Amino acid sequence: MAQFNLPEPQPDPLLHLVSKYHADTRHDKIDLGVGVYRDDDGNTPVLRAVKEAENRLQQLQPSKSYLGLTGDNEFVEQLGILLFGQSINHSATYAFGAQTPGGSGALRLAAEIYKIAHPKGTLWVGLPTWPNHLPLTESAGVDTATYEYFDKNSQQVLFENLLEVTDRARPGDAIILHGCCHNPTGADLTTVQWQQLVSLLTAKEIIPIVDLAYHGLGNGLEDDLAPVRLITTRCPEVLVATSCSKNFGLYRDRTGAVYMTSHEKRTATRAQAVFGQIARTIYSMPPDHGAAVVKIILQDNTLRQQWHDELSSMTARIKSLRQSMADSFPVLGFVARQKGLFSLLPLNPAQVNTLIDEHAVYLAGDGRINIAGCQEHQIERFVAALKAVDFCGTTP
Ligand code: LMR
Repeated sequence: MAQFNLPEPQPDPLLHLVSKYHADTRHDKIDLGVGVYRDDDGNTPVLRAVKEAENRLQQLQPSKSYLGLTGDNEFVEQLGILLFGQSINHSATYAFGAQTPGGSGALRLAAEIYKIAHPKGTLWVGLPTWPNHLPLTESAGVDTATYEYFDKNSQQVLFENLLEVTDRARPGDAIILHGCCHNPTGADLTTVQWQQLVSLLTAKEIIPIVDLAYHGLGNGLEDDLAPVRLITTRCPEVLVATSCSKNFGLYRDRTGAVYMTSHEKRTATRAQAVFGQIARTIYSMPPDHGAAVVKIILQDNTLRQQWHDELSSMTARIKSLRQSMADSFPVLGFVARQKGLFSLLPLNPAQVNTLIDEHAVYLAGDGRINIAGCQEHQIERFVAALKAVDFCGTTP
């Protein structure tokens, strides 16, 4: 009989951590693992704006018939205006795209279209990065090259390495850029660095692929979106993969979009059609529910304001936790300067394992912590656990 010969499955590091955390019966466990927002009771509630939009959708949705390969084009347009600003498609930059199954679906379509347009191109990826970036882009057949983005010990972005990439890359190569709230480091470029980088990318004809998943959770929406607006205004062709998982709290509803922005309308509209063709060969069409909800929120001023307020309160909680951690343990001072859900602690794998096994403090294997996973009253215990594993030589 023919045998199915499958390789040993490798567990996804972040999702494996979720299962391990749930199976742990210790009552004082702390979950700083997977990147989901949590409130101070440790819950990830459905946003009130989302609940209201879902109620309206349930009452008013006229049909569940197919929408088409690029999903709900009104959702894509509304989300595009949110990301790129009101002037998009009315000035020198055009953004057209497709609804996707979450940010991962968007990244996959971005990688696929890049591979079609630049079959010999190399995609540059700064490390550390979201652990799924390389598997996801490589499975689209894209050649990748890596460089060091960040030094964990000094907590500094290695901007000189980015400059070196722009020197080494060939025209038509691409580079993944975290639009804001870098995952896993929380360390973004400064405004001046973004400007310098964008000038070089444009001059060297390197295509930015911007991954935008945490906007709104750093310094607020407008501030967090400034880099992507700078990039898309200045660079002639940009791919943007975005997710509504975190800022709309729609994680399991798999809501996202991919855009090609271009100074040529024809390039962007053609890319939209190609996104649809690629989608057809992978999953045909994206799921509708989350996108329908986001569209309702974005089209209604009251709901939009409510969502914005809820997003602002999540951001305020993250900032306040960052400050409390730094105040409780000055060695964590860098945490207060970083943005978004994550910081990357300089811990080795043995220290991480001890934190999980002996102290019930769950964090990613590379030392990444999800700040929002910590409840205010858990900070003291978290700090004590760090000291117990001799974090930065701080054993009492
Ligand atoms: C994370 O980085 O923890 C999130 O983006 C969740 C995921 O899918 O990995």
